[in-house]
Amino acid sequence: MCGIVGYIGQKDAYPILIKGLQRLEYRGYDSAGIALINGDTRTYKTKGKVSDLENYCEGKNISGSIGMGHTRWATHGEPNDVNAHPHVSMNGHFVVIHNGIIENYGRLKSRLKTRGYNFKSETDTEVLANLIEYIYLKGKVSADVAVRLALTKVVGAFGILVACKSENNKLVAARKGSPLVIGVGRGEYFFASDASPIIEYTDSVIYLNDNDMAVVTKDSLQLMTINNDKLEPKIQKLNLDIGEIEKGGYDHFMLKEIFEQARSINDTFRGRVSFDKQSLHLGGLYNVTDKLVAAKRIIIIGCGTSWHAGLVGEYLFEELARIPVEVEYASEFRYRNPVIYKDDVVIAISQSGETADTLAAIKLAKENGATVLGICNVVGSSIPRETDGGVYTHAGPEIGVASTKAFTAQVTVLTMMAVILGEKRKTISQEKYLKLIEDLTLIPDKIDKILSYNEMFKHISEKHKDSENFLYLGRGFQFPVALEGALKLKEISYIHAEGYPAAEMKHGPIALIDENMPVVVIATHDKSYEKIVSNIQEVKARKGIVIAIVTEGDTVLKDIADYTLEIPEVSEELAPLLTVVPLQMLSYYIAVLRGCNVDQPRNLAKSVTVE
Ligand code: G6P
Repeated sequence: MCGIVGYIGQKDAYPILIKGLQRLEYRGYDSAGIALINGDTRTYKTKGKVSDLENYCEGKNISGSIGMGHTRWATHGEPNDVNAHPHVSMNGHFVVIHNGIIENYGRLKSRLKTRGYNFKSETDTEVLANLIEYIYLKGKVSADVAVRLALTKVVGAFGILVACKSENNKLVAARKGSPLVIGVGRGEYFFASDASPIIEYTDSVIYLNDNDMAVVTKDSLQLMTINNDKLEPKIQKLNLDIGEIEKGGYDHFMLKEIFEQARSINDTFRGRVSFDKQSLHLGGLYNVTDKLVAAKRIIIIGCGTSWHAGLVGEYLFEELARIPVEVEYASEFRYRNPVIYKDDVVIAISQSGETADTLAAIKLAKENGATVLGICNVVGSSIPRETDGGVYTHAGPEIGVASTKAFTAQVTVLTMMAVILGEKRKTISQEKYLKLIEDLTLIPDKIDKILSYNEMFKHISEKHKDSENFLYLGRGFQFPVALEGALKLKEISYIHAEGYPAAEMKHGPIALIDENMPVVVIATHDKSYEKIVSNIQEVKARKGIVIAIVTEGDTVLKDIADYTLEIPEVSEELAPLLTVVPLQMLSYYIAVLRGCNVDQPRNLAKSVTVE
């Protein structure tokens, strides 16, 4: 949800900012803007992508060794040039970029209006810029004090960078609820919503915590809280490789990330599966293992694809560890006054570790005394810092807005957790424990095998790219995969798609089926196989087009379905790690063939830091 980037030092800021914005474009891409400071302050902004901003800046004065840039995902005010950031205060003293939402902006705006302020945009950010300026002029305080005091009046979430015209040798950064990282170089500092724009310049970073504020010149950094308590900056080393955030020869990040899944799952295993494949260890759970083993209930929270991974987790924990599980959308959980017991274990799943609703749900669970664990991908993000323990997925940066490798890494972690718990609670035999570990380690090669059927994915996509609706069906462990398949298709190709438990089809969706309706059915060899074959027959009897995901060697469905896509033999509990792969590939090719922007689908953002 909006990406922010900044630079202060001796180099030209413009190329650093543009490159940084391109890396952050996954966070929002409806408009972009930049401010450059070189004695004077210039802002350039436009509707559209970072490439549109670059075109817009052509021939303009882009000098300056201090600057800030923003790529927007609109919350307040439609995407247009005026609502794009940076926002300049009414009298031109301050320039602000912002990620987040100022919830009390309406009230602040009315008050500023009565004091003579008028507004060009519909944004909450311009209100903040004017509030800072009002305090600066009225209180005759320094720019950083004005920023700090303004932030004490603000309700909501922010990651901001602020520059002041008359104190033009510094930038002020602050955060509450929206991420902000500062890169520490020699005689220079970098600012960004995540570390990806920073890594090629420095591996020393400071992660701002909520309510932190930094006042930065090219040679100094002072850290304090918004309440003016001095803080000692904690410099951490980044462990991120630049190759991981580039496309590496693939047409799209999404495709690269789908193909990376064998590697990313191996990275998830690293250090966790013993060398002899006889045991699993998750270091981040050591201090909560007793609580987990004794848990009467697990509540899993997440949003989007992470919620789907959570649903797979429900099947895994209940099947292998016999612990009752509830899976909740974080946005529902946080507002519905849920019953939370002290001996509940809450597991928050999030790729970014920054999703606003998930963070708020964690807070609520903690307030109620539950043990809260995180399963996150982005190291150092907010969720791992807020939780009592947890597991990093180590899938590497995921740039494509449609989540793929993060999902399989999340499901891998959940599987490892369930297997460990099953063994400790003696709900699975030692033999089953060892078999599941062995089978898990074979998953990466099996994913690569599925991906070798590329031509088949393209062929089916060609045939059905123009369909207006798709139905996805699965039973048991495959029901969440059906939901995930439908989500993948709708988010990147804009085709209406629904995921359903196959047996529920009779209670509604069957009415939609006709000769134009492709129905993707996950029908692998497991205990519901016979039942799902019957469901497929029901679809065929109504002339639906069946694309069946089957286990290698299935001859029955080859005769019934219009298309079969094979996955290698695998135990039922691990099958979601494989069956999701053909669904990712179908969505990818259908979206490409429809001319959609696969990595940056309309209206979406990778990291949703507003509720
Ligand atoms: C957005 C992304 C999804 C993601 C969801 C939850 O909607 O586009 O891909 O699943 O947020 O994000 P999280 O970072 O918490 O997993």
